[in-house]
Amino acid sequence: MDKKYQPFEERIVYQIYPLSFSDSNNDGIGDINGIIQKLDYLKDLGIGIIWLSPIYKSPLKDNGYDISDYYDINPLFGTMEDFDNLIKEAKKRDIYIVMDLVINHTSNEHPWFKEALSDPSSKYRKYYYFEKGKGKKRPPNNWTSTFSGGAWEKIENEDNMYYLHLFSKEQIDLNYHSEELIEEIEKILKFWLEKGVYGFRCDVINRIYKSSLKNGRFRLYEIGREHYINQDENYKILERLQNNVLKKYGAFLVGETFAINYEDGKKFKETGALDMFFEFDHAFSDQNKIVPVFKKKFKPKNLINPVLSWIEEIGWMANYLENHDQRRSVSRYGDEEHFYNLSAKALATFLLSLRGTPFIYQGEEIGMNDDKDMKYEDVNDVSAIGVTNYLMKLLHLSKEKAFKLVNETTNRDHARTPMQRNKDINAGFNNGTKPWLKINESYKKGINVEDEYKVEDSILNYYKKMIHFRNNDDVLKHGSFKRIKSNKNVAKFIREYEGNKYLVVINLSNKKIKDIREDKEILISNYENHSLNILNEYEAIIYKL
Ligand code: GLC
Ligand code: CA
Repeated sequence: MDKKYQPFEERIVYQIYPLSFSDSNNDGIGDINGIIQKLDYLKDLGIGIIWLSPIYKSPLKDNGYDISDYYDINPLFGTMEDFDNLIKEAKKRDIYIVMDLVINHTSNEHPWFKEALSDPSSKYRKYYYFEKGKGKKRPPNNWTSTFSGGAWEKIENEDNMYYLHLFSKEQIDLNYHSEELIEEIEKILKFWLEKGVYGFRCDVINRIYKSSLKNGRFRLYEIGREHYINQDENYKILERLQNNVLKKYGAFLVGETFAINYEDGKKFKETGALDMFFEFDHAFSDQNKIVPVFKKKFKPKNLINPVLSWIEEIGWMANYLENHDQRRSVSRYGDEEHFYNLSAKALATFLLSLRGTPFIYQGEEIGMNDDKDMKYEDVNDVSAIGVTNYLMKLLHLSKEKAFKLVNETTNRDHARTPMQRNKDINAGFNNGTKPWLKINESYKKGINVEDEYKVEDSILNYYKKMIHFRNNDDVLKHGSFKRIKSNKNVAKFIREYEGNKYLVVINLSNKKIKDIREDKEILISNYENHSLNILNEYEAIIYKL
């Protein structure tokens, strides 16, 4: 590998949601040994980095995004020995491991919080936000939780005392005004880097510092935001973690950053606080930005424009179409009904030809889709349940109607159903024990790894081809990026590296589109036959100029 480049500039990341990836001991829950068993699959696919959603000890109120011990593994997933083994086995295959770092909040079962709660004079009080209510009945301020309802929870055995939680009431916000807390975080980072992890995906990292606890301006979603999103001190804290710990290990840091603009994004890069970050503008291409549970008709330009503009502005992005919080891309941005395979492949070409680090989410490579039959009773997602109940009260809706709104927009369980490996019982996720979340029946229709391996022109084989192409190609990995004017449904850009030039053309709509091109060598495409003045539905082509 060329020393000129950092591993994250050369490699493709694959996100694993451990609960749903592979259940090796058939208890219904995915586990670390299951991941180890599938490393050869990931190697064959061409993956160079794995991002593991949280595997730490946790009561799983938000599936691990509520950590109760930063130094231990959740026994449901295995042991620390299993984890060390995972690092070792991954290394054998030249795959790096990235951990999820959830440091905006801890679980309510974390010993820090338990002690802070039981003993008001405990030093851990300062690790969180404990505040007196306003008057007799009102919380300290008007902030609301991202998962619906107020952001303050009243403590039972103290008079008029509350704690802050920007997510569920079991996820308690940490207080970054505390020097001791920051030192604890440094220790945690060191612990995992010493074990040999390559870096961290930092959960909701642009809201860890709260500048004030004043009331927020009125808005329909996340009241209080202006007091905690992208605050100056937030960058400083990350810079400090970089200087004191991360840089010494050459650690990689990618941030999850809701609600940033170009200026904030540039600051994260220029200060060296993060190597890269995820933007969320394109994720609102089919839902309302102010009230996300309101659907919006998907238009390809609302996916294409933000993605390309962020690259133009920032240069190097963490590119993704899916993760464990988003519905499946073929269902959102593709056309499952008429062009299932072609649209999934067009999306694959898009993701893997952009400038930046591509992030593939488990199951995306086989075109897993949303589970349209999901019922409220099937749902586990703490946010989907909370928001459904909130809408029922707020809008006086029946449970069915409220859930329908959520299910078609922000229900995160669509992405969390178990990985589909074959046509056997439970889609081959395990040997038959009922999984923690209902399986999506689409595995029976051939959306599974084993069947797709056998079909030459499957989505999986296309991903594999595209990934290997990129892995061995300096133009796609390192080339400059220049957008070309085109029809609004078409993503068109040039990648160029040391005199080699590619033209990427992707029709992201289910219509034929007039588009004139010169007759050049085709490097990769999801169609066999091409016309030089028409793009077929979801046609994607990479030309060598
Ligand atoms: C991030 C995670 C999400 C989690 C939330 C709170 O958005 O990706 O799954 O619920 O943070 O930790
Ligand atoms: Ca298991």
